[in-house]
Amino acid sequence: MDYYKTKDSVEEYIRLAKDVNGSQLIEKLKKFLPGSSTLLEIGSGPGTDWKILNRDYEVVGSDNSQEFLSHLTSNNPAGTFLELDAITLNTDDRFDGIYSNKVLHHLKDDELINSLKRQYDILNPQGIICHSFWKGDGSEVFKGLFVNYHSEKVLREFCEDFFEISMIESYNEFEPEDSLLLIGRKKKDIATNS
Ligand SMILES: C[S@@+](CC[C@H](N)C(=O)[O-])C[C@H]1O[C@@H](n2cnc3c(N)ncnc32)[C@H](O)[C@@H]1O
Repeated sequence: MDYYKTKDSVEEYIRLAKDVNGSQLIEKLKKFLPGSSTLLEIGSGPGTDWKILNRDYEVVGSDNSQEFLSHLTSNNPAGTFLELDAITLNTDDRFDGIYSNKVLHHLKDDELINSLKRQYDILNPQGIICHSFWKGDGSEVFKGLFVNYHSEKVLREFCEDFFEISMIESYNEFEPEDSLLLIGRKKKDIATNS
């Protein structure tokens, strides 16, 4: 059973993550994405970052877990939340920015590349991506969930066809330099065939 799909494990995640938020990442995003821009958050989970993003942006939250989506909608009745898988991002909406915090590490390499292609498609011209990852090599299964680790080099390779990298920076989540933040800007005129 997928950890993020059951009521008990989602309640556990919300409890364990209650003192963690992406405010330092969002401060970096604000240097590249002007206030009032439209922004899609992928994998909003408990909605902690959604609330912070909502202060500055026209933010739409999303997740592929019904349990998280019902938590998000009941806690934020005025918010907009979509059921979206990070890989397919099946929406007709277009955005100035796309943000995720510790979500895309659940994708396999080919899935991440497909997600980045799709992000390119649903971004407005000059659109910004801002995503965090666990830093390292290889992958593992933790609590039944696939977890992929990324190096700066690999992230650059995956992104460079679609995005100009504005910054890739290490930061501390639980341990020194255990995480990477990537911010990129949509390149002009790339054919993605999707
Ligand atoms: C580690 S939690 C992070 C949640 C939130 N961003 C935070 O910072 O607390 C991962 C989140 O990504 C969601 N998720 C995992 N795989 C996903 C996918 N393929 N598409 C969309 N959301 C996904 C999970 O449901 C969960 O909400």
